[in-house]
This record gives sequence, structure tokens and C-alpha cells, in this order.
Amino acid sequence: MRSTVRKPADVASVKGDLLVVVVAPGQTVPQGPAVEVDVALNGALAASMRAKEIEGKAGQTVVFHSGGALAARRAVAVGIGDGAPDDWREAGAAAAKAAGSGKVKTVTLVPPDDAGAAEVSAFAEGLGTGVYRFDRFKSSDGGRAPDRLAVHSATLRSSDLARAERIVEAVNAARDLVNTPSNHLTPSMLADYARGLADGVQGLKVTAFDRARLEKIGTGALLAVAQGSAQAPRMIVMRYTPPAKGRATEVLGLVGKAVTFDTGGISIKPSGGMEEMKMDMGGGAAVIEATALIARLGLPVEVIAVVPATENMPSGTAIKPGDVVTALNGKTIEILNTDAEGRLILADALTYAARQGATRLVDFATLTGAIVVALGEVYAGLFGSDDEWTALVREASETSGDIAWPMPLHKRYRPMLDSKVADIANISNKRQAGAILAAEFLQEFTEDVPWAHVDIAGTGMVGGAGTGFGVGLALAVAERVASSSPA
Ligand code: BES
Ligand code: MN
Ligand code: ZN
Repeated sequence: MRSTVRKPADVASVKGDLLVVVVAPGQTVPQGPAVEVDVALNGALAASMRAKEIEGKAGQTVVFHSGGALAARRAVAVGIGDGAPDDWREAGAAAAKAAGSGKVKTVTLVPPDDAGAAEVSAFAEGLGTGVYRFDRFKSSDGGRAPDRLAVHSATLRSSDLARAERIVEAVNAARDLVNTPSNHLTPSMLADYARGLADGVQGLKVTAFDRARLEKIGTGALLAVAQGSAQAPRMIVMRYTPPAKGRATEVLGLVGKAVTFDTGGISIKPSGGMEEMKMDMGGGAAVIEATALIARLGLPVEVIAVVPATENMPSGTAIKPGDVVTALNGKTIEILNTDAEGRLILADALTYAARQGATRLVDFATLTGAIVVALGEVYAGLFGSDDEWTALVREASETSGDIAWPMPLHKRYRPMLDSKVADIANISNKRQAGAILAAEFLQEFTEDVPWAHVDIAGTGMVGGAGTGFGVGLALAVAERVASSSPA
């Protein structure tokens, strides 16, 4: 979505397919730019407010056909709630919905005077992600989605919206990856895609290790999961070195699970709904897009991103329950359930990122059904080994809108993963604390680097479609690291 800021103009004469004005709670009559719309429409907006059809709640809308009274074809009044960025984001998403039904190419926003860059950017994010569709495999495209936002403002500049535009681009790209079926997105295709993102981006380098290289490096846990598939695995490594070193001394390690299809392996999943497991690479998609986004924005923070990519398949070469494998850090793992594969591939990726110099780690993974039961599709689960680091990730989650709720780790959980034959088992056979035990397992592979884990099994896909969850959060984390001076 292209966004431009134009000079303030007489609202009624503003052209466009859909004109957006806003209403806040407590307003009983139209205010600011909404007044001009109301006047042109002979008091239709005021009547709508009196009838409480719109009370300013974030995301509420009323649509008016202008019938020639305005230069714009239609106008929509959108509620902005308390005016927090999240509310503006919701307002943008609501405007996208209102635009969706008509033949709208350009959405024109006339914000109130007190709306600044943060508010309008959040609106642009909500709008740009709200108009997203995945129609790559549809023969007819179902009509074009809006692809332009014009904002009339005296105080903003187009460059204020560039960041939002890039976030939208990255979030929607992550959703494309998540929604793409596994036969169109194998681990090697994902690696090629990630490599392509580095083209022309200053400071970004992408490499991908194939099976032979991984054997040399010693990522036994990733290779174990991959051995059942005809598709070769990749470990995708993205490094971003900022053009100018800022205050940050930390190296941010981003790790993302990319199981391009999770059948469960020999511990096979039930067939009902299994198609959703093409989305088991949502963490990896978020990390890949976020890293490219951080580089495009030129943030002054060094990043190393590691994305282990594989299928999890049952076959004559697949790992079997009871098999013991050796992870990159030398620990032996008894694989009691081959469907707990995410933690296996992340184990090696976390160790690799730490050994390559990451001084702070955060991983994103569609890791457990248990987190879906606990937190649903609203909050991701947030785990961490270091209170300060976890708090930073938690705060970043609130500002980004990719919200995450703190979950516990405790050493008293760890014995549930004791194995009779190896250093650790990949599951416990008690049906308890599933999301926590997965996190406890991961912690064993973090080389004591401050680490946070975001379980996005519930938030990464909603209603059978990818959300792009994690892109905004990873960016917000990177921004915080970039602006924090050494302790
Ligand atoms: N990819 C799944 C987790 C998942 C479940 C993601 C539902 C999205 C929606 C993961 O690999 C998995 O299979 N986890 C198992 C672990 C269990 C075997 C300990 C689970 O949660 O059932
Ligand atoms: Mn699984
Ligand atoms: Zn999985």
C-alpha cells in the first residue's frame, strides 16, 4: 500500500473512493473534519451519532454514499476509541473492511488536528494489513483491493508513513509465506526466498546450510527431524550489520521455527484439520520478514537470525519414538514423540545463534497446542530466562500490537523431561504444562544467553489463515535494543 500525505483541503472537495473521518467516544456531534462531511451530507452523520449507530468505539463504522454531495464517492466515519495506537490500528482495519465491499482503490483519511504520526501510522498499518488477501491460487482475483492511502494533513509528511508502509509490506509478506501450501514452499524454496530478500539491502547477508553442511556443523536434532522427508532441510542464517553503529552493544538473535509441513511424523497427527500444519513455519516467516524489515529501515542494531526449516514426515527413513540423537550442543535427546519436532529444530538453531555471537535471544514458534488452550488466539505465550530481557519483550509486545502474556519457567518442571537413557526427553508422558515443558526443553539449548520464547501456535494463524504475528514484535524488540545504551 502506497501512502502519501497531501495538503489539507476542504473536506467536501477531497476526491477519492472512500473518505475516512473519525469519531471519538463522548462526542455527541461531529467534530473536526467530520463536521464538513456532516454538513455536506445534510446532517446524516450527526443523525447517525444521535441514533448511537456510532459511539466512537474503536473499529465501529458507518458508511455514507455521498450521492454527489462530496467529491468522494463514499464516506465512512470510524471510531477511534481511546486513541491509543492499538485503537487507531483497529480503526484502520475497520476502514479496510468498509472499503472491501466497494470498488475502492484509494482510501483518503482526513485526521483530526491532534492525530500525530504515531496515530496515523497505526491507522495505515491497520488499513494495509486489513485489505490483505491471499489469492495466489485463485483463477479470478475477486476484484482489486485498495492499494493507496492519501492523508490530508498540515503537520505530517509522507516520510512519516514510510515506516508503516514497510511494516505492512513485511507483515503481509509473512502472511503470504504462512498461507502458501507446503508443495509450493519447501525448505529450500524458503531459503531461496530469504536469499532474495537481501538483494539491494545494505548490510544484509543471507546464507543457507544444506544437509551436508549441517552434518559438518553437527545439528543432529534438526537433521533427525528432516531425515523422514524427501525434501532436504535448510538452516537459514541472516546477518544484518548496521551501516552506522549506534549505542547498542548487544547482538540480537532472532530464531524462528519453520516446519513447512508438520504431519507429526511417526507419531502422526489425526487427519482432520491437518492441512493447517502448512502454517507450522509462521515463526520462521516472521523472523525472516522482520530481519529484512530491520535492515530496510536501517536500524542501528546488529542482528543474527537463524531459521531451521524442514518438513516433519513419517517414512521408512523417519525418526522413531525412542530414538536418541545428539544436538549441536552435545546433549543427547530421547525422542519419545516425533510430533514434538519444533523444539528439536529450535534447540540447534538457538545454540547456533548463541555460538555465532547473539547476546540476546528471542524465538518465535508455533510450538504447542497447549498454548492455544491456555491463551487462545489473542495472547501469545511469553517465556524467558532473564527477567529484564523478558520484560523488554513484553513491553515491545504491547506497543507492537503483537501481544504476549508472561508464562512461568521453574526448575521444578525440568525433572518431567528426565529420560531413562539420554540427557533429556523431548516430551513428558504426563498431560500437564505442555507449553511450559516445551519452553523448559528449549532453555537447555540457549548457552545461558538471555533468552525469550514466544509461543505463537494460537496467534500465528487465526481462522485458517496466517496473521504475520511476530513481525511487528520482533521489530519493536529490535528498536528497543537499538535505543538502549550499554548498562
Ligand atoms: N506444530 C505443532 C503445534 C501446533 C498445534 C501449532 C496446533 C498450531 C496449532 C507442534 O509441533 C506439535 O505437534 N506439538 C505437540 C507437542 C506434543 C506432542 C508434546 C502438541 O502441542 O500437541
Ligand atoms: Mn508437531
Ligand atoms: Zn510443529
